[in-house]
Amino acid sequence: MQIWIVDFGSQYTQLITRRCRELGYSSQIFIFEDVIKLFNEGKKPNALILSGGPQSVFESNTPYELLFKDTKLPILGICYGMQIMGKVLGGKVARGFQGEYGLVKVHAIKNNIFKFQESLTWMSHFDHVEGLPNDFDTLFESVNGMVAGMIGKKSPWMGLQFHPEVHHTEHGPEILDYFLKDIAKLKEDWGQNEIFNESLNDVKKIGDNYVLCAFSGGVDSLVAASLAETVLGKKLFCFFVNNGLLRIQDLKQIELLQKNTKLNIEVIDASDIFLNKLKGVSDPEEKRKTIGKTFIEVFETKVHEFEKNRGIKFNYLLQGTLYPDVIESISPHKKNGKSVTIKSHHNVGGLPERMNLKLLEPLKWLFKDEVRNLGRTLNLKEEWIMRHPFPGPGLGVRILGELDKIKIERLQQADQILFEELVAGHYYGNTWQAFTVYIPVKTVGVKGDARSYEEVIALRMVNSVDGMTASVTDLPMSFLTKVASRITNEVSGIARVVYDLTSKPPGTIEWE
Ligand code: XMP
Repeated sequence: MQIWIVDFGSQYTQLITRRCRELGYSSQIFIFEDVIKLFNEGKKPNALILSGGPQSVFESNTPYELLFKDTKLPILGICYGMQIMGKVLGGKVARGFQGEYGLVKVHAIKNNIFKFQESLTWMSHFDHVEGLPNDFDTLFESVNGMVAGMIGKKSPWMGLQFHPEVHHTEHGPEILDYFLKDIAKLKEDWGQNEIFNESLNDVKKIGDNYVLCAFSGGVDSLVAASLAETVLGKKLFCFFVNNGLLRIQDLKQIELLQKNTKLNIEVIDASDIFLNKLKGVSDPEEKRKTIGKTFIEVFETKVHEFEKNRGIKFNYLLQGTLYPDVIESISPHKKNGKSVTIKSHHNVGGLPERMNLKLLEPLKWLFKDEVRNLGRTLNLKEEWIMRHPFPGPGLGVRILGELDKIKIERLQQADQILFEELVAGHYYGNTWQAFTVYIPVKTVGVKGDARSYEEVIALRMVNSVDGMTASVTDLPMSFLTKVASRITNEVSGIARVVYDLTSKPPGTIEWE
């Protein structure tokens, strides 16, 4: 990747990477220590971007000067990154008592560079560069009279006090592109073809080996498997575990994929095993752990049986890991800070060690929308790559408390009704995730002139970017009442439907 982004803990670091890629340049996030290590090994990028961060340069002893040793390496410092640049290069950084937050107007001082004279920008800073380093010019000044941007007179260095990567900054892409194209002289190297080739190279590297995929039919595992199949052909086997906690749409989707793709999809029906293990379990965390553990046990046993019967040995596990998961695992917050476990996620993390498999993660450089585009390059159908996310523990965390076959069937029917209506009303694409939740609480109603005493289904539809925060999807009342009416009429044992109006936070998306 030609641009290295040094992450100092800004909440916008991922956005910097995304914007660089949208402008056509490959980019990757590193932590400071790793960049220095790579520099010492003689490696370097074509341009370096220093992210913002929550710290103050007055409280840091980090040897930032190591970043500026090569005076020909183009560097852009954003927010905290600009303050680092100011401090290291001998400018004066002032400890701010009055910062600038939110939308702030800036004026272009060197107005022969940009087509605009002023721009609204997104700021969030406390300290600021008060005196420029030698051989720097002011590039932007804020309406508050503060330096909002600086540029080296001879050096390929530029600093911005605002965040060009944030959508609210009016001319953000233009300003970023000026640094990348005009200062750093980068050539575009990131587009559909490059994404395809880069991801494919990872698969090509593994040579003549059998590869196993824990396949869910969701967009990530589908794109990863379809990509890998183009190289591995029948040496790739996709194992799909039916844990009895799937929706009708998931089972249909697998049938469709078996018929309409070249993938070798092996279905393991383990519904009874899962339901047995979950008997008597009602605590959400215990359910999640039981489902995760059972998945690994079932998967391992079935794959070993398969290997024995076919006389083959799998060496690799193909996973649809995406770049945000990789970033999360290298993030400075994660390394130093502790985060509370809200929910234990069900994933296949324990498998590779247990089964002695090497990992193949061809999508690990990509964001979700890039994965979807890759799916399009691979000619996968639009409705396959635009499916909503579905959690590993499935309906297990959408039925409150203990599970049984009847509740699962009722929830499957309710979910199918919601799904059909979303598709028929062309609302499926308007919401990020949509599902039903089984609330095993009896309420009184009237059905056919008689008193009913039956249970409740909640509808949950949210909009989100990455599942970290979410807001309730605003759908027409006529749609909601139609779904409610179908559920109470068609699903036995359900007399009431409610709509969950909780955002995340304070709620989570799933109920358990
Ligand atoms: P929460 O409920 O934590 O969900 O707000 C955020 C997003 O994550 C999904 N989710 C999971 N995905 N394994 C997964 O692969 C899990 O165990 C899991 N639990 C929640 C959830 O559907 C939502 O999209």
